[in-house]
Amino acid sequence: QQTAPFDYVIFGATGDLTMRKLLPALYNQLRIGHVPEDARIIGTARSELSTEEYRTRAQEALEHFLPAPHKDAALIERFLKKIHYVTLDGTKEDPASWDDLHTVLKQSPADRIRVFYFSTAPQLFEAISENLHRFSFITPQSRVVLEKPIGTDSASARAINEGVSRFFKEEQIFRIDHYLGKETVQDIIALRFANPVFNAVWSAEHIQSIQITAAETVGVEGRAAYYDTSGALRDMIQNHLLQVLSLCAMEAPADLGADSVRDAKVKVLKALRPIPPEKVASETLRAQYITGTMDDVKVPGYLEELGDNSNTETYAVMRAYVDTPRWKDVPFYIRTAKRSHKKVSEVVVTFKKTASSLFGKDGEHNRLVIRLQPNEGFGLALNIKNPSAADFSLQHGAMDGRFAPADGSLIPDSYERLMLDAVRGYPALFIRRDEVEAAWAWVEPTLQTWAANKVPMTHYPAGSYGPKEARAFIATTGDAWHEDM
Ligand code: BG6
Repeated sequence: QQTAPFDYVIFGATGDLTMRKLLPALYNQLRIGHVPEDARIIGTARSELSTEEYRTRAQEALEHFLPAPHKDAALIERFLKKIHYVTLDGTKEDPASWDDLHTVLKQSPADRIRVFYFSTAPQLFEAISENLHRFSFITPQSRVVLEKPIGTDSASARAINEGVSRFFKEEQIFRIDHYLGKETVQDIIALRFANPVFNAVWSAEHIQSIQITAAETVGVEGRAAYYDTSGALRDMIQNHLLQVLSLCAMEAPADLGADSVRDAKVKVLKALRPIPPEKVASETLRAQYITGTMDDVKVPGYLEELGDNSNTETYAVMRAYVDTPRWKDVPFYIRTAKRSHKKVSEVVVTFKKTASSLFGKDGEHNRLVIRLQPNEGFGLALNIKNPSAADFSLQHGAMDGRFAPADGSLIPDSYERLMLDAVRGYPALFIRRDEVEAAWAWVEPTLQTWAANKVPMTHYPAGSYGPKEARAFIATTGDAWHEDM
């Protein structure tokens, strides 16, 4: 599936995301033959660098971030030749630096696909778009990819969307949420709709609750300045985890086309039961990590890392309800943590117990665990007969499956798929404007109530499961956290 030739123009090309994800993703797509030979990558940023210097940085990043089986010196060499660098402040109107970009882009045919990837702070999106328009870079074959976060609340998200849409049509705008590019997240659609054993029982009639977790062992790393203005809710829940929730809860789309899937997801986001300010204390939980031990090493707490006082959460839980007939009163627990004791993203579907007099006592809950990462796959907990018991007592049995490709290759990184989908003009795995705005609208009362400090901040040691208050939180609606966090 090689794409048409393209020029990928990355704003924020010296940043962490470009080095860690974007360049390795394009390299891998070249490796598997999806990138045509005359495709080019044009990095832009404010740093004064020559193309040669930038290629050296790119090479170091590839050496560092590519998985060992994918490293190939000759291929890296071939990839680096596709890279160009232009020193440019995308927000400035100074024509001279834009001329440099023109010089590079003019080397391609005028009708070549151009992708502008904004890997910068979202406040800059409108200004960069305006300059691209002012200096005539936006062709009919151009598209723009917007990295998250789209704003910090409803108003700023609307302003950014308005701002960019003055220069790009909605079909040219690709709002990225890298969780949608994860093969395992797309497996939620496959498991639900391609398997009658799940499809037939996927509702309040049989499902007691759904837990959606994304926990990480890393702290805020070098990103404290950004993270402190964001926090766990904005960084993970408003986007990635609400997208996962939408896929779990949506009605069957008419087809897998971009609008059908996004229509189905946005209906879920709009059906989320509002959490009014007076309910935020009972329906959400926030926490910060304090000093703890990880792998026998003492690690500092969030405030020590930040070197300042802060009310930003590094852990968040929300209890959500989707007010549609299918999900009548089924709680969805959405949870995310930094500095957790292990890295795990998963969806846990707990089925209702079958009341049956046949076996003397009820069996345990059936549980479907969709392991988004790591150890990508799924587990299903069942009740089976205890083979060594003379009576008909039950015991726990488990089925396990893996999402790994059959040929033993690694699951592609989410950015690989998404970056080339933008070239292909295929928007199904990108977020539509109404989705972003609906997601902000739902989290906003919680953000405001937390910001006003009306909900206590709880704490957990780095390297632990989270704050002890989380157990009581989930128990109020009759559930327990899936142990395997
Ligand atoms: C990003 C967040 O969007 O997702 C990061 O800004 C987080 O804070 C990352 O670490 C997690 O992504 P993944 O793919 O490792 O789960």
